[in-house]
Amino acid sequence: MAKKTLRLEGLPNPKQDLFLRAVAPRIAYGGARGGGKSWVLRRKFILLANRYSGLKLLLLRRTLAELDGNHTQPLLKELNGFAKYTKDNKTFTFPNGSTIKLGYCDTDNDVYQYQGQEYDVIGFEEATAFTEWMLTYIATSCRSTRTDFSPRIYYTCNPGGPGHDYIKRLFIDRIYEHGENPDDYVFIQAKVTDNTVLMETNPGYIKTLEALPEHLRKAYLEGRWDAVEGQYFSEFDPAIHVCAPFPIPRDWRRFRAMDWGYNDPCCVLWFAVAPDSHLYVYREIYQNQTSASDMAKLVKKRSVAFDEHGTQFTEHITYTAASPDMWQKRGLRDAMGGETVADTFIANGVPIVKADNDRLNGWMRVRENLQVAPDGRPFVQIFSTCRDLIRTLPLLTYDKHDHEDVADNCEDHAPEAFRYGLMTRPSPAKRKEVEKKRLIAIDPLTPLPRKNNEGGFFYA
Ligand SMILES: Nc1ncnc2c1ncn2[C@@H]1O[C@H](COP(=O)(O)OP(=O)(O)OP(=O)(O)O)[C@@H](O)[C@H]1O
Ligand SMILES: [Mg+2]
Repeated sequence: MAKKTLRLEGLPNPKQDLFLRAVAPRIAYGGARGGGKSWVLRRKFILLANRYSGLKLLLLRRTLAELDGNHTQPLLKELNGFAKYTKDNKTFTFPNGSTIKLGYCDTDNDVYQYQGQEYDVIGFEEATAFTEWMLTYIATSCRSTRTDFSPRIYYTCNPGGPGHDYIKRLFIDRIYEHGENPDDYVFIQAKVTDNTVLMETNPGYIKTLEALPEHLRKAYLEGRWDAVEGQYFSEFDPAIHVCAPFPIPRDWRRFRAMDWGYNDPCCVLWFAVAPDSHLYVYREIYQNQTSASDMAKLVKKRSVAFDEHGTQFTEHITYTAASPDMWQKRGLRDAMGGETVADTFIANGVPIVKADNDRLNGWMRVRENLQVAPDGRPFVQIFSTCRDLIRTLPLLTYDKHDHEDVADNCEDHAPEAFRYGLMTRPSPAKRKEVEKKRLIAIDPLTPLPRKNNEGGFFYA
Protein backbone atom coordinates (compact mmCIF):
# COMPACT_ATOMS: atom_id res chain seq x y z
CA MET A 1 0.00 0.00 0.00
CA ALA A 2 1.52 3.33 -1.07
CA LYS A 3 2.20 5.84 1.67
CA LYS A 4 0.30 9.07 1.17
CA THR A 5 2.81 11.60 2.44
CA LEU A 6 5.63 12.73 0.24
CA ARG A 7 8.70 13.51 2.33
CA LEU A 8 11.84 14.48 0.46
CA GLU A 9 15.29 14.78 1.99
CA GLY A 10 17.71 17.60 1.15
CA LEU A 11 17.41 21.14 -0.16
CA PRO A 12 18.49 22.34 -3.59
CA ASN A 13 21.63 24.45 -3.88
CA PRO A 14 21.24 27.87 -5.62
CA LYS A 15 21.91 26.50 -9.14
CA GLN A 16 19.52 23.62 -8.61
CA ASP A 17 16.98 26.11 -7.29
CA LEU A 18 17.23 28.05 -10.57
CA PHE A 19 16.62 24.84 -12.47
CA LEU A 20 13.62 23.90 -10.36
CA ARG A 21 12.06 27.31 -11.01
CA ALA A 22 12.73 27.45 -14.76
CA VAL A 23 9.66 27.09 -16.97
CA ALA A 24 11.03 27.40 -20.54
CA PRO A 25 10.04 24.64 -22.98
CA ARG A 26 13.68 23.43 -23.27
CA ILE A 27 15.99 23.60 -20.29
CA ALA A 28 19.56 22.29 -20.13
CA TYR A 29 21.41 21.94 -16.85
CA GLY A 30 25.00 21.20 -15.90
CA GLY A 31 27.66 21.19 -18.55
CA ALA A 32 30.25 19.76 -16.12
CA ARG A 33 30.75 16.72 -13.86
CA GLY A 34 29.26 16.43 -10.40
CA GLY A 35 27.08 19.55 -10.51
CA GLY A 36 24.10 17.75 -9.01
CA LYS A 37 22.42 17.05 -12.35
CA SER A 38 20.94 13.63 -11.68
CA TRP A 39 19.74 14.64 -8.23
CA VAL A 40 17.92 17.75 -9.42
CA LEU A 41 16.36 16.09 -12.45
CA ARG A 42 14.88 13.37 -10.27
CA ARG A 43 13.71 16.04 -7.81
CA LYS A 44 12.08 18.09 -10.58
CA PHE A 45 10.28 15.03 -11.90
CA ILE A 46 8.96 14.09 -8.47
CA LEU A 47 7.78 17.67 -7.76
CA LEU A 48 6.05 18.02 -11.13
CA ALA A 49 4.38 14.60 -10.88
CA ASN A 50 3.10 15.44 -7.43
CA ARG A 51 1.95 18.97 -8.29
CA TYR A 52 -0.04 18.21 -11.47
CA SER A 53 -2.51 15.32 -11.44
CA GLY A 54 -2.31 12.87 -14.28
CA LEU A 55 0.96 14.29 -15.66
CA LYS A 56 2.93 11.95 -17.92
CA LEU A 57 6.70 12.12 -17.57
CA LEU A 58 9.44 10.18 -19.34
CA LEU A 59 12.95 10.01 -17.91
CA LEU A 60 15.60 8.62 -20.26
CA ARG A 61 19.18 7.46 -20.11
CA ARG A 62 21.13 6.03 -22.99
CA THR A 63 21.47 2.49 -21.58
CA LEU A 64 19.44 0.27 -19.32
CA ALA A 65 22.32 -0.35 -16.90
CA GLU A 66 22.84 3.40 -16.44
CA LEU A 67 19.12 3.90 -15.95
CA ASP A 68 18.89 1.36 -13.16
CA GLY A 69 21.94 2.61 -11.27
CA ASN A 70 21.36 6.30 -11.79
CA HIS A 71 17.61 6.59 -11.42
CA THR A 72 15.55 3.51 -10.66
CA GLN A 73 17.31 2.68 -7.41
CA PRO A 74 17.61 6.31 -6.18
CA LEU A 75 13.96 7.02 -7.06
CA LEU A 76 12.77 3.94 -5.18
CA LYS A 77 14.68 5.22 -2.18
CA GLU A 78 13.63 8.86 -2.50
CA LEU A 79 9.95 8.09 -3.08
CA ASN A 80 10.00 5.47 -0.34
CA GLY A 81 6.68 3.87 -1.34
CA PHE A 82 4.85 7.14 -2.02
CA ALA A 83 4.50 6.25 -5.71
CA LYS A 84 3.89 2.63 -6.72
CA TYR A 85 6.62 1.16 -8.90
CA THR A 86 5.72 -1.36 -11.58
CA LYS A 87 8.81 -3.24 -12.65
CA ASP A 88 7.39 -4.59 -15.93
CA ASN A 89 6.95 -1.18 -17.53
CA LYS A 90 9.43 0.67 -15.28
CA THR A 91 6.82 3.16 -14.19
CA PHE A 92 6.19 5.02 -10.94
CA THR A 93 2.49 5.83 -10.45
CA PHE A 94 1.68 8.64 -8.03
CA PRO A 95 -1.49 8.75 -5.91
CA ASN A 96 -2.80 11.59 -8.14
CA GLY A 97 -2.43 9.43 -11.27
CA SER A 98 0.77 11.04 -12.55
CA THR A 99 3.34 8.65 -13.95
CA ILE A 100 7.12 8.74 -14.33
CA LYS A 101 8.23 6.22 -16.91
CA LEU A 102 11.90 5.31 -16.99
CA GLY A 103 13.31 4.49 -20.39
CA TYR A 104 16.51 4.03 -22.32
CA CYS A 105 17.61 4.29 -25.92
CA ASP A 106 20.62 2.13 -26.61
CA THR A 107 20.41 2.01 -30.41
CA ASP A 108 18.82 4.22 -33.05
CA ASN A 109 15.97 1.70 -33.41
CA ASP A 110 15.05 2.06 -29.74
CA VAL A 111 13.49 5.45 -30.52
CA TYR A 112 10.51 3.64 -32.02
CA GLN A 113 9.48 2.44 -28.55
CA TYR A 114 8.41 6.03 -27.95
CA GLN A 115 6.71 6.56 -31.29
CA GLY A 116 3.07 7.52 -31.01
CA GLN A 117 3.35 8.14 -27.25
CA GLU A 118 2.51 11.45 -25.61
CA TYR A 119 4.44 12.88 -22.68
CA ASP A 120 4.01 16.23 -20.95
CA VAL A 121 7.63 16.13 -19.78
CA ILE A 122 10.67 14.40 -21.17
CA GLY A 123 14.05 14.38 -19.43
CA PHE A 124 17.23 13.31 -21.20
CA GLU A 125 19.80 12.45 -18.53
CA GLU A 126 23.32 12.85 -19.95
CA ALA A 127 21.76 14.21 -23.13
CA THR A 128 25.07 14.38 -24.99
CA ALA A 129 25.28 10.57 -24.78
CA PHE A 130 22.31 10.39 -27.16
CA THR A 131 22.64 10.98 -30.90
CA GLU A 132 21.00 14.03 -32.46
CA TRP A 133 18.59 11.68 -34.21
CA MET A 134 17.49 10.18 -30.88
CA LEU A 135 17.13 13.59 -29.24
CA THR A 136 15.08 15.07 -32.05
CA TYR A 137 12.94 12.01 -32.77
CA ILE A 138 11.96 11.37 -29.15
CA ALA A 139 11.27 15.09 -28.69
CA THR A 140 8.33 14.72 -31.09
CA SER A 141 6.57 12.71 -28.36
CA CYS A 142 6.62 15.73 -26.05
CA ARG A 143 3.15 17.17 -26.60
CA SER A 144 0.16 17.82 -24.48
CA THR A 145 -3.47 18.83 -24.72
CA ARG A 146 -3.54 20.10 -21.15
CA THR A 147 -4.46 23.69 -20.44
CA ASP A 148 -2.73 23.92 -17.05
CA PHE A 149 0.72 22.83 -18.20
CA SER A 150 2.84 23.38 -21.29
CA PRO A 151 5.13 20.52 -22.35
CA ARG A 152 8.82 20.66 -21.47
CA ILE A 153 12.04 18.91 -22.23
CA TYR A 154 14.93 18.82 -19.79
CA TYR A 155 18.48 18.00 -20.74
CA THR A 156 21.20 17.34 -18.20
CA CYS A 157 24.55 17.17 -19.89
CA ASN A 158 28.34 17.10 -19.91
CA PRO A 159 30.48 18.22 -22.85
CA GLY A 160 31.47 15.36 -25.19
CA GLY A 161 29.57 12.50 -26.78
CA PRO A 162 27.51 11.92 -29.90
CA GLY A 163 25.02 14.66 -28.96
CA HIS A 164 27.71 17.24 -28.09
CA ASP A 165 27.33 19.31 -31.29
CA TYR A 166 23.54 19.45 -31.07
CA ILE A 167 23.37 20.46 -27.41
CA LYS A 168 26.22 22.93 -27.83
CA ARG A 169 24.55 24.60 -30.82
CA LEU A 170 21.23 25.07 -29.01
CA PHE A 171 22.33 25.94 -25.48
CA ILE A 172 25.92 27.18 -25.62
CA ASP A 173 26.45 28.73 -29.07
CA ARG A 174 22.74 29.59 -29.37
CA ILE A 175 22.66 29.22 -33.13
CA TYR A 176 19.14 28.49 -34.29
CA GLU A 177 17.68 26.98 -37.40
CA HIS A 178 14.38 27.64 -39.06
CA GLY A 179 11.52 26.79 -36.70
CA GLU A 180 13.61 27.04 -33.50
CA ASN A 181 12.71 29.93 -31.20
CA PRO A 182 15.73 31.21 -29.18
CA ASP A 183 13.48 32.12 -26.23
CA ASP A 184 12.55 28.46 -25.81
CA TYR A 185 16.10 27.48 -24.82
CA VAL A 186 17.58 28.09 -21.39
CA PHE A 187 20.92 26.82 -20.10
CA ILE A 188 21.83 26.77 -16.41
CA GLN A 189 25.48 25.99 -15.90
CA ALA A 190 26.38 23.97 -12.80
CA LYS A 191 29.86 22.78 -11.90
CA VAL A 192 31.06 20.58 -9.09
CA THR A 193 31.82 23.73 -7.06
CA ASP A 194 28.09 24.58 -7.18
CA ASN A 195 27.25 21.23 -5.58
CA THR A 196 27.62 22.31 -1.97
CA VAL A 197 26.64 18.93 -0.52
CA LEU A 198 29.24 17.05 -2.56
CA MET A 199 31.94 19.61 -1.78
CA GLU A 200 31.29 19.05 1.92
CA THR A 201 30.78 15.28 1.96
CA ASN A 202 33.38 14.31 -0.63
CA PRO A 203 35.99 17.07 -0.97
CA GLY A 204 38.35 14.56 -2.63
CA TYR A 205 36.14 14.40 -5.72
CA ILE A 206 37.37 17.73 -7.01
CA LYS A 207 40.94 16.37 -6.80
CA THR A 208 39.89 13.47 -9.02
CA LEU A 209 38.65 15.98 -11.59
CA GLU A 210 41.80 18.07 -11.25
CA ALA A 211 43.93 15.00 -11.96
CA LEU A 212 42.25 14.29 -15.31
CA PRO A 213 44.12 14.82 -18.59
CA GLU A 214 43.97 18.49 -19.58
CA HIS A 215 41.13 18.36 -22.11
CA LEU A 216 38.91 16.29 -19.80
CA ARG A 217 39.73 18.49 -16.84
CA LYS A 218 38.71 21.56 -18.79
CA ALA A 219 35.49 19.92 -19.90
CA TYR A 220 34.43 18.20 -16.69
CA LEU A 221 35.74 20.61 -14.09
CA GLU A 222 35.52 23.95 -15.86
CA GLY A 223 32.57 23.12 -18.13
CA ARG A 224 34.46 24.06 -21.32
CA TRP A 225 32.54 22.78 -24.34
CA ASP A 226 35.38 23.56 -26.74
CA ALA A 227 37.85 21.29 -24.90
CA VAL A 228 36.40 17.99 -26.11
CA GLU A 229 34.93 19.12 -29.39
CA GLY A 230 33.98 15.99 -31.26
CA GLN A 231 35.58 13.55 -28.80
CA TYR A 232 34.70 10.06 -30.00
CA PHE A 233 34.78 8.09 -26.74
CA SER A 234 33.47 10.71 -24.38
CA GLU A 235 32.37 7.92 -22.04
CA PHE A 236 36.02 7.04 -21.41
CA ASP A 237 36.70 8.03 -17.82
CA PRO A 238 40.08 7.18 -16.31
CA ALA A 239 38.42 7.11 -12.90
CA ILE A 240 36.50 3.98 -13.85
CA HIS A 241 38.21 2.51 -16.91
CA VAL A 242 41.76 2.51 -15.56
CA CYS A 243 42.68 0.15 -12.73
CA ALA A 244 45.79 -0.63 -10.73
CA PRO A 245 47.72 -3.65 -12.05
CA PHE A 246 47.22 -6.96 -10.24
CA PRO A 247 48.71 -10.42 -10.85
CA ILE A 248 46.48 -12.17 -13.33
CA PRO A 249 45.77 -15.78 -12.31
CA ARG A 250 47.41 -18.34 -14.58
CA ASP A 251 44.19 -19.96 -15.67
CA TRP A 252 42.60 -16.79 -17.08
CA ARG A 253 42.35 -16.87 -20.85
CA ARG A 254 44.80 -14.45 -22.54
CA PHE A 255 45.07 -13.09 -26.04
CA ARG A 256 46.86 -10.29 -27.85
CA ALA A 257 45.96 -7.70 -30.46
CA MET A 258 48.34 -5.73 -32.62
CA ASP A 259 48.30 -2.74 -34.92
CA TRP A 260 51.44 -3.00 -37.01
CA GLY A 261 53.61 0.03 -37.77
CA TYR A 262 57.25 0.73 -38.49
CA ASN A 263 57.52 4.48 -38.99
CA ASP A 264 54.30 4.93 -37.05
CA PRO A 265 54.22 3.18 -33.69
CA CYS A 266 53.43 -0.52 -33.56
CA CYS A 267 51.02 -1.24 -30.73
CA VAL A 268 50.59 -4.65 -29.11
CA LEU A 269 48.05 -5.12 -26.33
CA TRP A 270 47.64 -8.12 -24.03
CA PHE A 271 44.10 -8.96 -22.88
CA ALA A 272 42.93 -11.24 -20.07
CA VAL A 273 39.42 -12.61 -19.61
CA ALA A 274 38.22 -12.86 -16.01
CA PRO A 275 35.90 -15.72 -15.01
CA ASP A 276 33.01 -13.21 -14.88
CA SER A 277 33.89 -12.41 -18.54
CA HIS A 278 35.12 -8.88 -17.78
CA LEU A 279 38.19 -7.99 -19.82
CA TYR A 280 41.48 -6.45 -18.74
CA VAL A 281 44.13 -4.92 -20.97
CA TYR A 282 47.16 -5.63 -18.86
CA ARG A 283 50.23 -4.90 -20.96
CA GLU A 284 51.21 -2.84 -23.98
CA ILE A 285 54.10 -2.29 -26.35
CA TYR A 286 54.05 1.03 -28.17
CA GLN A 287 57.14 1.82 -30.20
CA ASN A 288 58.26 2.57 -33.74
CA GLN A 289 61.38 1.92 -35.83
CA THR A 290 61.43 -1.72 -34.76
CA SER A 291 61.69 -4.38 -37.47
CA ALA A 292 59.06 -7.11 -37.68
CA SER A 293 61.48 -9.80 -36.50
CA ASP A 294 62.68 -7.71 -33.54
CA MET A 295 59.09 -6.88 -32.64
CA ALA A 296 58.10 -10.56 -32.77
CA LYS A 297 61.02 -11.39 -30.45
CA LEU A 298 60.02 -8.60 -28.09
CA VAL A 299 56.40 -9.77 -28.02
CA LYS A 300 57.53 -13.29 -27.08
CA LYS A 301 59.93 -11.97 -24.47
CA ARG A 302 57.26 -9.80 -22.84
CA SER A 303 54.72 -12.66 -22.68
CA VAL A 304 56.01 -13.74 -19.32
CA ALA A 305 54.26 -13.03 -16.04
CA PHE A 306 54.19 -13.67 -12.33
CA ASP A 307 51.14 -15.35 -10.89
CA GLU A 308 49.43 -14.38 -7.64
CA HIS A 309 51.99 -16.52 -5.73
CA GLY A 310 54.93 -14.65 -7.27
CA THR A 311 56.00 -17.55 -9.52
CA GLN A 312 57.19 -16.63 -13.02
CA PHE A 313 55.67 -18.44 -15.98
CA THR A 314 55.41 -18.17 -19.76
CA GLU A 315 51.92 -17.09 -20.64
CA HIS A 316 49.70 -19.23 -22.82
CA ILE A 317 48.37 -16.79 -25.41
CA THR A 318 45.33 -18.23 -27.16
CA TYR A 319 45.71 -16.09 -30.28
CA THR A 320 47.03 -12.75 -31.56
CA ALA A 321 44.68 -10.72 -33.76
CA ALA A 322 46.75 -8.48 -36.02
CA SER A 323 46.07 -5.71 -38.53
CA PRO A 324 45.16 -7.17 -41.94
CA ASP A 325 47.72 -4.93 -43.71
CA MET A 326 50.44 -7.21 -42.33
CA TRP A 327 49.51 -9.73 -45.01
CA GLN A 328 50.14 -7.23 -47.83
CA LYS A 329 53.25 -7.67 -49.94
CA ARG A 330 54.88 -4.32 -50.39
CA GLY A 331 57.38 -2.65 -52.69
CA LEU A 332 60.79 -4.21 -53.08
CA ARG A 333 59.99 -7.15 -50.85
CA ASP A 334 57.13 -8.03 -53.12
CA ALA A 335 59.24 -7.69 -56.30
CA MET A 336 61.83 -9.96 -54.74
CA GLY A 337 59.16 -12.44 -53.70
CA GLY A 338 59.93 -11.55 -50.08
CA GLU A 339 57.84 -12.43 -47.12
CA THR A 340 55.09 -10.30 -45.64
CA VAL A 341 55.26 -8.79 -42.17
CA ALA A 342 52.81 -11.51 -41.12
CA ASP A 343 55.20 -14.20 -42.45
CA THR A 344 58.03 -12.68 -40.40
CA PHE A 345 55.98 -12.78 -37.21
CA ILE A 346 54.94 -16.36 -37.82
CA ALA A 347 58.52 -17.38 -38.67
CA ASN A 348 59.68 -15.80 -35.41
CA GLY A 349 57.29 -17.81 -33.29
CA VAL A 350 54.37 -15.37 -32.98
CA PRO A 351 51.42 -16.93 -34.82
CA ILE A 352 48.94 -14.24 -35.80
CA VAL A 353 45.42 -14.22 -37.21
CA LYS A 354 43.87 -11.47 -39.32
CA ALA A 355 41.88 -9.07 -37.16
CA ASP A 356 38.33 -8.13 -38.13
CA ASN A 357 38.73 -4.65 -39.58
CA ASP A 358 35.04 -3.70 -39.73
CA ARG A 359 35.60 -0.20 -38.37
CA LEU A 360 32.08 0.91 -37.49
CA ASN A 361 31.06 -2.30 -35.76
CA GLY A 362 34.48 -2.39 -34.13
CA TRP A 363 34.16 1.10 -32.65
CA MET A 364 30.66 0.19 -31.53
CA ARG A 365 32.09 -2.90 -29.81
CA VAL A 366 34.59 -0.66 -28.01
CA ARG A 367 31.78 1.63 -26.90
CA GLU A 368 29.73 -1.29 -25.58
CA ASN A 369 32.71 -2.55 -23.62
CA LEU A 370 33.28 0.86 -22.03
CA GLN A 371 29.78 0.78 -20.59
CA VAL A 372 29.31 0.01 -16.94
CA ALA A 373 28.01 -3.52 -16.36
CA PRO A 374 25.19 -4.21 -13.89
CA ASP A 375 27.86 -5.13 -11.31
CA GLY A 376 29.04 -1.48 -11.35
CA ARG A 377 32.33 -2.08 -13.21
CA PRO A 378 32.93 -1.43 -16.91
CA PHE A 379 33.09 -4.51 -19.15
CA VAL A 380 36.70 -3.65 -19.96
CA GLN A 381 39.39 -2.06 -17.77
CA ILE A 382 42.91 -1.01 -18.60
CA PHE A 383 45.93 -1.40 -16.31
CA SER A 384 47.39 1.99 -15.44
CA THR A 385 50.70 0.80 -16.93
CA CYS A 386 49.22 0.85 -20.47
CA ARG A 387 49.99 4.54 -20.80
CA ASP A 388 49.65 5.03 -24.54
CA LEU A 389 46.24 3.37 -24.79
CA ILE A 390 45.02 5.50 -21.87
CA ARG A 391 46.52 8.62 -23.43
CA THR A 392 45.25 8.18 -26.98
CA LEU A 393 41.79 6.64 -26.54
CA PRO A 394 40.28 9.94 -25.33
CA LEU A 395 42.04 11.84 -28.13
CA LEU A 396 40.05 10.18 -30.91
CA THR A 397 37.62 12.57 -32.58
CA TYR A 398 34.69 12.13 -34.92
CA ASP A 399 35.31 12.13 -38.66
CA LYS A 400 33.74 15.34 -39.97
CA HIS A 401 32.38 13.57 -43.08
CA ASP A 402 31.34 10.27 -41.55
CA HIS A 403 29.98 10.99 -38.11
CA GLU A 404 30.02 7.32 -37.15
CA ASP A 405 33.75 6.87 -37.71
CA VAL A 406 36.96 8.13 -36.12
CA ALA A 407 38.81 10.92 -37.97
CA ASP A 408 41.80 9.87 -40.06
CA ASN A 409 44.31 12.22 -38.50
CA CYS A 410 44.10 10.85 -34.93
CA GLU A 411 46.88 8.96 -33.18
CA ASP A 412 44.92 5.75 -33.34
CA HIS A 413 47.45 2.87 -33.15
CA ALA A 414 46.60 1.81 -29.62
CA PRO A 415 42.82 2.31 -30.06
CA GLU A 416 42.98 0.23 -33.26
CA ALA A 417 44.71 -2.63 -31.44
CA PHE A 418 42.09 -2.24 -28.69
CA ARG A 419 39.33 -2.47 -31.31
CA TYR A 420 40.88 -5.54 -32.97
CA GLY A 421 41.14 -7.25 -29.60
CA LEU A 422 37.57 -6.46 -28.53
CA MET A 423 36.22 -7.60 -31.90
CA THR A 424 37.51 -11.11 -31.19
CA ARG A 425 35.14 -11.25 -28.23
CA PRO A 426 31.35 -11.38 -28.24
CA SER A 427 29.55 -8.15 -27.39
CA PRO A 428 29.02 -7.75 -23.63
CA ALA A 429 25.32 -8.54 -24.05
CA LYS A 430 26.08 -11.91 -25.63
CA ARG A 431 29.08 -12.75 -23.50
CA LYS A 432 27.29 -14.57 -20.71
CA GLU A 433 25.59 -16.89 -23.15
CA VAL A 434 28.82 -17.54 -25.02
CA GLU A 435 30.81 -18.07 -21.84
CA LYS A 436 28.52 -20.99 -21.03
CA LYS A 437 29.04 -22.45 -24.50
CA ARG A 438 32.79 -21.92 -24.26
CA LEU A 439 32.97 -24.82 -21.86
CA ILE A 440 32.56 -27.02 -24.90
CA ALA A 441 33.96 -24.57 -27.45
CA ILE A 442 37.01 -25.02 -29.60
CA ASP A 443 40.09 -22.87 -29.85
CA PRO A 444 39.63 -20.07 -32.46
CA LEU A 445 42.72 -21.29 -34.30
CA THR A 446 41.40 -24.82 -34.73
CA PRO A 447 40.39 -25.34 -38.39
CA LEU A 448 36.69 -25.87 -38.83
CA PRO A 449 35.29 -28.73 -40.94
CA ARG A 450 33.77 -27.50 -44.22
CA LYS A 451 31.61 -29.43 -46.70
CA ASN A 452 33.31 -30.42 -49.98
CA ASN A 453 31.61 -31.02 -53.35
CA GLU A 454 31.29 -34.73 -52.78
CA GLY A 455 29.24 -34.19 -49.66
CA GLY A 456 32.18 -35.08 -47.40
CA PHE A 457 34.18 -32.75 -45.16
CA PHE A 458 37.60 -31.19 -45.30
CA TYR A 459 39.45 -28.98 -42.85
CA ALA A 460 40.47 -25.47 -43.86
N1 LIG B 1 20.75 19.26 -3.21
C1 LIG B 1 21.32 18.10 -2.86
N2 LIG B 1 21.13 17.59 -1.62
C2 LIG B 1 21.74 16.43 -1.26
N3 LIG B 1 22.59 15.74 -2.02
C3 LIG B 1 22.82 16.21 -3.26
C4 LIG B 1 22.20 17.40 -3.73
N4 LIG B 1 22.63 17.61 -5.00
C5 LIG B 1 23.46 16.60 -5.30
N5 LIG B 1 23.58 15.77 -4.25
C6 LIG B 1 24.46 14.61 -4.17
O1 LIG B 1 25.73 14.95 -4.74
C7 LIG B 1 26.27 13.86 -5.46
C8 LIG B 1 26.50 14.27 -6.94
O2 LIG B 1 25.26 14.69 -7.47
P1 LIG B 1 24.71 14.12 -8.87
O3 LIG B 1 24.97 12.67 -8.97
O4 LIG B 1 23.32 14.60 -9.02
O5 LIG B 1 25.71 14.91 -9.82
P2 LIG B 1 25.85 14.80 -11.39
O6 LIG B 1 26.05 16.17 -11.90
O7 LIG B 1 24.72 14.01 -11.93
O8 LIG B 1 27.21 13.98 -11.48
P3 LIG B 1 27.81 13.21 -12.77
O9 LIG B 1 28.44 14.26 -13.62
O10 LIG B 1 28.85 12.30 -12.15
O11 LIG B 1 26.69 12.48 -13.41
C9 LIG B 1 25.27 12.74 -5.33
O12 LIG B 1 25.66 11.92 -4.28
C10 LIG B 1 23.97 13.45 -5.01
O13 LIG B 1 23.08 12.62 -4.30
MG1 LIG C 1 24.68 12.22 -13.07
